[in-house]
Amino acid sequence: MKIIICPDSERVAGVAARLLADQVRARPESVLGLATGRTMEAIYRRLVGTVRAEGIDFSAVTTFNLDEYVGLPGGHAQSYRHYMERHLFAHVGVDPGRTHVPDGAAPDAEAQAVAYEARIGRAGGIDLQLLGLGENGHIGFNEPLSSLASRTRVVTLARATLAQNAGMFGGDPSHVPARAITMGTGTILEARKALMVVTGARKAAIAARAIEGPVSATVPGSALQYHRDCLVLLDPAAAAAL
Ligand code: GLP
Repeated sequence: MKIIICPDSERVAGVAARLLADQVRARPESVLGLATGRTMEAIYRRLVGTVRAEGIDFSAVTTFNLDEYVGLPGGHAQSYRHYMERHLFAHVGVDPGRTHVPDGAAPDAEAQAVAYEARIGRAGGIDLQLLGLGENGHIGFNEPLSSLASRTRVVTLARATLAQNAGMFGGDPSHVPARAITMGTGTILEARKALMVVTGARKAAIAARAIEGPVSATVPGSALQYHRDCLVLLDPAAAAAL
């Protein structure tokens, strides 16, 4: 793992956006693995600005998002498909047919997960995977005790995750869907490059466990210590316990 501590969270977002933009400029047909969550909003805002200012061509880029809530169709305001359209896809000229988010409304979620994994393979794998870190150490929706070798599948969300994400559902954890489709930790580790972004004091303790602690299924983010090309960007608040 390479660790960079930026002076503040805005600069974290700027560096992450720069790396994504440079990836696409160097290889216009890149396959990007994308993430959602509050941390990513600032990154996508910066990326949209960079793409517009520098005229970066996203039309040949393929994207695969990490996860989606089971039961939410793509048009639902809290779905991750909707999040991606709003924060990135609508603004960078990506070919809609090349964007992939698991279909949370698929009648057979397990089959959808298997098909999603196969689609990543057919695209040639992921060149650069963007990742956040959950307050409980999850990556994607791989909750603590997920197998470090897991593949794309249906998971039940941890109570801590329901609480962490309740803000998007009117503040009530019981309104957050209980299940999700997520790329597995094993799937994530196969990306050629990984970029994990962690900001804010609430993540300080778990960032230290993921980066410096033993590799353990109790902290799925720690699996990235095994990745051969993983960069972690932090702001000083998130790096406070390193
Ligand atoms: C969410 C997502 C993750 C995300 C993480 C952190 O539940 N499934 O992909 O990276 O939790 O979210 P945030 O940036 O809002 O703290």
